[in-house]
Amino acid sequence: MSKPSDIDLAVLQNSPWSKDRKWNFLPETDSTNAEIMRHISSHPPEEGLVVIADCQTGGKGRSGRVWHSESGTGIYLSMLIQPNLSPEKLSIVTLMAGLATAIAVNEFIPQPAQLKWPNDLLLNNKKIAGVLCEYHATKVPAVIIGIGINVNHTQFPADIKDIATSLKLESGLEINRTTLIRQLVTQLDFQYDELKNNKVQTLIDNWTRHSDLFGKSISIKKGDQIITGKALKLDPLGRLILLNESGKEIALDSGEVRIQKK
Ligand code: BTN
Repeated sequence: MSKPSDIDLAVLQNSPWSKDRKWNFLPETDSTNAEIMRHISSHPPEEGLVVIADCQTGGKGRSGRVWHSESGTGIYLSMLIQPNLSPEKLSIVTLMAGLATAIAVNEFIPQPAQLKWPNDLLLNNKKIAGVLCEYHATKVPAVIIGIGINVNHTQFPADIKDIATSLKLESGLEINRTTLIRQLVTQLDFQYDELKNNKVQTLIDNWTRHSDLFGKSISIKKGDQIITGKALKLDPLGRLILLNESGKEIALDSGEVRIQKK
């Protein structure tokens, strides 16, 4: 007989929240982001809607990759928001969601996980969480924030086992997913309010405090191009400022960061 899920929808629904919201828990779906996308193609978007799955059969990662979504172990969560932001500021939403994830996760483990621009959360240099934001062009644009966290996994498939890890593998602790989801959504609500109150610089400063990227030599893959240099800071639009080998500062709005081994 399979183990009962430790995701308890009633506990989440009955927790005190700062805003009204609809929750949806699915034992299995292709992707919680796709689930919300389908919902808003036929219903008016409901800000704050949260969809959680125990397992995803087609979990989506960045750059068309698959997000490993084994049942009973991870958090696969999507939230719908409708931020009134100009398009160039929408990338801040990814940073906001990553920050919320880092703060929530770090309440459960002794050694802090670190953010890697733009959307990865690493523990001992391996990935424990990622954010995938998808945009839907409605009258007020809707953003689907998708968050995957490796919580109680004890192993990973061969192709990702050298780059992925879980909170359990790193800390030895089994974490109740309902409790972590509650912290995560509390943080998402808080950080989103900061964004709506135009506290973008506070958000960027907090993001920077939760990252050990700055000052390190990195390379960034952008399409076919590889740019190398030192990670300096984030600018007010959330772009990564890199000091290249000719001493020139370059602002990057996307790309795959690799930290160079010393
Ligand atoms: C990445 O780091 O590549 C982003 C991973 C995002 C995974 C989450 S799991 C919940 C939501 N549904 C998806 O299909 N993807 C996101």
